[in-house]
Amino acid sequence: MQFVLLCCLLLALHPEPRPVEGAKILAVYAFPGKSHFMMHTALMRELVESGHQVTMITAFSLEKEQLGSNYTEILIEPVYDFWHDVKLNFGAQHLFELTRMTNYDFLKMLEIIGLKTTEHALRQPKVQAVIHAKKTKGVFDLLLAEQFYQEAFLALSRIYKIPVVTTSTLGYENHMSQMMGLITPWSFVPHGFMPFTDRMSFLERVKNSYASLYEDLDRLLSYFPKMDAVAREFFGPVLGDVPKVRQMEREISVMLLNSHAPLTTARPTVDAMVPVGGMHIYPPKALPEDMQAFLDGASEGAIFFSLGSNVQSKDMPQEMLQLFLQVFGSLKQRVLWKFEDESLRQLPSNVMVRKWLPQADILAHPKVKVFITHGGLFGTQEGVHYAVPMLGIPFYCDQHLNMNKAVLGGYAISLHFQSITSEVLEHSLLQLIHNATYKESVQRVSSIFRDRPQEPRKSAVYWIEYVIRHRGAPHMRSAGLDLNWFQFYLLDVIAFVVAIALAALLAALLAIRLLMGSDKQHRKSKTH
Ligand SMILES: *[C@@H]1O[C@H](CO)[C@@H](O)[C@H](O)[C@H]1NC(C)=O
Ligand SMILES: *[C@@H]1O[C@H](CO)[C@@H](O)[C@H](O)[C@H]1NC(C)=O
Repeated sequence: MQFVLLCCLLLALHPEPRPVEGAKILAVYAFPGKSHFMMHTALMRELVESGHQVTMITAFSLEKEQLGSNYTEILIEPVYDFWHDVKLNFGAQHLFELTRMTNYDFLKMLEIIGLKTTEHALRQPKVQAVIHAKKTKGVFDLLLAEQFYQEAFLALSRIYKIPVVTTSTLGYENHMSQMMGLITPWSFVPHGFMPFTDRMSFLERVKNSYASLYEDLDRLLSYFPKMDAVAREFFGPVLGDVPKVRQMEREISVMLLNSHAPLTTARPTVDAMVPVGGMHIYPPKALPEDMQAFLDGASEGAIFFSLGSNVQSKDMPQEMLQLFLQVFGSLKQRVLWKFEDESLRQLPSNVMVRKWLPQADILAHPKVKVFITHGGLFGTQEGVHYAVPMLGIPFYCDQHLNMNKAVLGGYAISLHFQSITSEVLEHSLLQLIHNATYKESVQRVSSIFRDRPQEPRKSAVYWIEYVIRHRGAPHMRSAGLDLNWFQFYLLDVIAFVVAIALAALLAALLAIRLLMGSDKQHRKSKTH
């Protein structure tokens, strides 16, 4: 009896976390980037399956996912064509020309398309209705937003008075230090768009510091004022005094990051930054029959070629296309190529093209020996998950970084698109196929990447429910966020110590001078 009582008492003292049932979540995923939706879709499905009700402001419809009655969609129509802005501002005719852009161009590009797509979404009558809703109390428990140049949407958390969890499809980024109140050393943490690793030479550290500082200042002085203006325009009528996006960013409770060791290198972090990389990878599904047969029959193995959803193989310059076809034709392996124009002529008999391919399921096929990729984060994670050596042809943003990491990890060869020749391409493919070091490396990395205390989708839902349960997570917020910049970097303390040291030095000098002076006087008086 006493024992039972004791147990009850202990249970009362150590209650299990209260389960969150049927929470009402407002999700804003307004940026029309196809790959971003690999993460958003997985998250929406997991939340609905966990019994929550989600309302999603979205750039793409998830209708075919059949998420059921607890998923409500507010679709942004038409889809904003941000590549039009890119072409207009940077004079690139198609994405193959983006390899010529500098990192500073990319930053500018992301800011432009961020501002344009945010405005486009906020202007929608259906989104306006969410902003100007009559009833806001108790309507939602949480705001989910994307951590990607869409900051104005954070104001929805002020309207509905709810905490925020954001998702970053790019994983860790330099500017997150400012939002989470931590110091990220530029000496060993490479900026996401620089082609560096965590081991940088002196010159690379100079460039890395410049790029990181440039971005921080550019956000502060150029980008944020523009995003603030957008927030004021659309949220001002309801909120009156709209907080600065810089301030709202600092109130984010938890950030879910599309990254995980060993695909990210060790770096400073806080508990509120949760790595959930690989959320979009599900157990493999059956392939369409023709693809299954094509891969099953590849006695010498197969190569899978996809440049992702933005860069289209069909836009490839004609001479490059011929080069790829000629090299593929000379190989014993079969090649499965994501090519948007299925009527491609003069196809070698060992090459199959399809405009759509179930990428992860193909990578799971045991005959696939090499993955030719643009090095996007989602594809790289799939390649690592299924332990397929990669031939990288990176184009922009984080693709160079991802591929550099893969090269350093020993499971990829990376080529610069403009300088590919048939010899280089053939040699690289044969190395990846026949040289066992690549496969061994990717298997090692794969087993580390898959080794987690909790599945990434479960982890994401856990942290979302955690924030709902505790109505935010101010206890995880870094107090560094409330310091002045000179306090944060300890400049005041350094100034204080330097001042004391200087004062001591000055005092010492004065004392010496006085002593010597009196000494001279002393000697003078002696000679007389
Ligand atoms: C929808 O959510 C409610 C509240 O959580 C739950 O009771 C119901 O079972 C859910 N419906 C479906 C179809 O999942
Ligand atoms: C296999 O690849 C490794 C790493 O690139 C290289 O050092 C080695 O020389 C290659 N071996 C052969 C036989 O080509």
